Amino acid sequence: MKVIIVKDKLAGGKEGFKLFDEALKNGAKVFGLATGSTPVTTYDELTASDLDFSQSTSINLDEYIGLGSDHPQSYRYFMQQHLFNKKPFAHSYVPDGLNQNTEEATKNYDKIIEANPIDLQILGLGRNGHIGFNEPGTDPKSLTHKIKLTQSTIDANARFFDKATDVPQYAYSMGIGSILKSKKILLEAYGSEKSAIVKAMIEGPITSDVPASYLQKHADVTVVLDEDAASKLE
Ligand code: F6R
Repeated sequence: MKVIIVKDKLAGGKEGFKLFDEALKNGAKVFGLATGSTPVTTYDELTASDLDFSQSTSINLDEYIGLGSDHPQSYRYFMQQHLFNKKPFAHSYVPDGLNQNTEEATKNYDKIIEANPIDLQILGLGRNGHIGFNEPGTDPKSLTHKIKLTQSTIDANARFFDKATDVPQYAYSMGIGSILKSKKILLEAYGSEKSAIVKAMIEGPITSDVPASYLQKHADVTVVLDEDAASKLE
């Protein structure tokens, strides 16, 4: 893993931007995208730039089950607000949170990923080591699946909802196997609350207890950290 340590998430956004810029110039067509607070500064850099994604495809990592595109906490809504409304893509895929037919929703998404191999995947990092919504214990070969969110993830994401009980309990997530197939991966993590899990991801053993540790097996991962998130690294 290549680790870049910057002062803060604004500087991190500029590093993230550089990878998108470089990938686009090198002919990347498909971008795997994440939601949450982490990628926002990178998306801000993208929307402020003159990069053109009108011929590109985006595939998001995950979506809450039960939330539609008009729900302000759905990941589709988030992506529209933070990126797509300002920087349109030719096609932008997010799992269909309103499709209660798990088999159909997950298989459809796998077909999309298979037909559009991801050139650059951006990831955030859960405090429990999840990437996408692949919670600890998830099979490293997993494809798109339905997942029951852990209490740690529900608590962490409650800040976006009126109350913790409003956070959906289930989500669809791209699997770890699909994430690892991306040609290039950018993971960003900011803040001292991520420092322990950042250390486990980079310096710890590869284990399903820390799903992000599987990134150690990938040949082209760039990790962008602020000083707080990097503070426990050797
Ligand atoms: C979001 C996602 C999650 C988040 C992670 C960190 O699409 O897949 O893995 O990246 O929960 O969330 P933040 O960035 O809010 O700390």
